[in-house]
Amino acid sequence: MRRVAVIGAGMTRFGERWEEGMRELAVEAGVRALESAGVRGSQIQALYVGNMSGGRFIGQEHIGALAADYLGLNPIPSTRIEAACASGGLAFRQAYLSIAGGEFDLVVAGGIEKMTDVLTGQATTTLGGAADQEWETFFGATFPSIYALMARRHMHEYGTTEEQLAMVAVKNHDNGLKNPYAQFRKKITVEDVLNSSPVATPLKLLDCSPITDGAAAVVLASEEMARKITDDPVWINASAQASDTLALHSRSSFTSIPATRLAAEKAYQKAGIKPKDVDVAEVHDCFTIAEIMAVEDLGFVPKGEGGKAYEEGMFELGSDISVNTSGGLKACGHPVGATGIKQVAEVFWQLRGEAGERQIPDAEIGLTHNVGGSGATVVVHVLSRYPDLRQR
Ligand code: COA
Repeated sequence: MRRVAVIGAGMTRFGERWEEGMRELAVEAGVRALESAGVRGSQIQALYVGNMSGGRFIGQEHIGALAADYLGLNPIPSTRIEAACASGGLAFRQAYLSIAGGEFDLVVAGGIEKMTDVLTGQATTTLGGAADQEWETFFGATFPSIYALMARRHMHEYGTTEEQLAMVAVKNHDNGLKNPYAQFRKKITVEDVLNSSPVATPLKLLDCSPITDGAAAVVLASEEMARKITDDPVWINASAQASDTLALHSRSSFTSIPATRLAAEKAYQKAGIKPKDVDVAEVHDCFTIAEIMAVEDLGFVPKGEGGKAYEEGMFELGSDISVNTSGGLKACGHPVGATGIKQVAEVFWQLRGEAGERQIPDAEIGLTHNVGGSGATVVVHVLSRYPDLRQR
């Protein structure tokens, strides 16, 4: 396999973007990524676009073609990738593999979703398509309710409290305040979370990621190409993916996401690092309980100690492992197909020292963790300042 680097990143502001359509968002993110990389569209050899459900949200399928068309990239190959909320992470992985395997040298990986053109009920039904339609959504389950079941079980087994869940949201809103691209730039308190409207008990409004429009894009290059274009590449040291049962009830655990553990183990092994080596991580906090499970499954804390870690202020901006410096899905927003690419963009900026007010000092190793559905698809990437972390 050849070495691959990220050499540019761009994204739109996430939020309710009613003035723009999907194509305008794609162009905004894509052009910013090309400008960041210092390359022209005519140099790009392939495009991979993460999108979960353009057809059900806005009646638009064929998103690969749409993105290539409006970005002026025709006639290069352009491919849409779908893996529910992990669509972006998987598009990034496909772009990585296409270069590592020798097919291309300069590729764009993007992600996009336009979710706010429909009412919340319709968005909930569409998102429910990522669960098991016959055994979960048909019987009334929604994503908030599926994650609420995991939260209940985690509270039962490990004593995790609603206050600890709230602390995840408070931290991520603090980080979102420093991110000009974030949907919510608003400080909240534990009391605000506890007093917010119940959505699926014990999860309340402020435990949930929102419904969001947005796009993000990154430029990937082979080692040879990257060294020609920039002195400041960010290397992809590992890419790993794992799958699990579609439905929660068939899972081996309700308090962890086993595919996260498997993908993370593979990623750490490939990169030659331990969890404690990570300086900055963008993890999949679609609900506050999801971030607690993520920090446990990624090995940042022992199983069951995630909740307590938030009381101790672990994972805040500038701590040993800063988690969700972008504001995470909770505050930055969660345009499902774009999230995985936004995570890579945030880690890229942190590792390059370009993260503005939310920059953490001396970030060298970053991790992204993108989950599809309630854990049926997980994609983990390790990125760093070093082409080979074993020789750092
Ligand atoms: N966090 C913080 N504020 C939120 C919010 C969230 N998740 N969702 C909505 N708000 C705010 C809105 O900005 C709005 O504020 P305003 O009155 O100051 O303008 C207010 O709450 C009401 O917004 P509205 O759009 O009417 O909320 P809603 O009740 O229709 O939707 C949820 C709220 C939680 C149901 C919806 O955001 C949701 O379904 N989230 C989960 C998405 C999901 O499942 N994603 C996939 C994960 S796997």
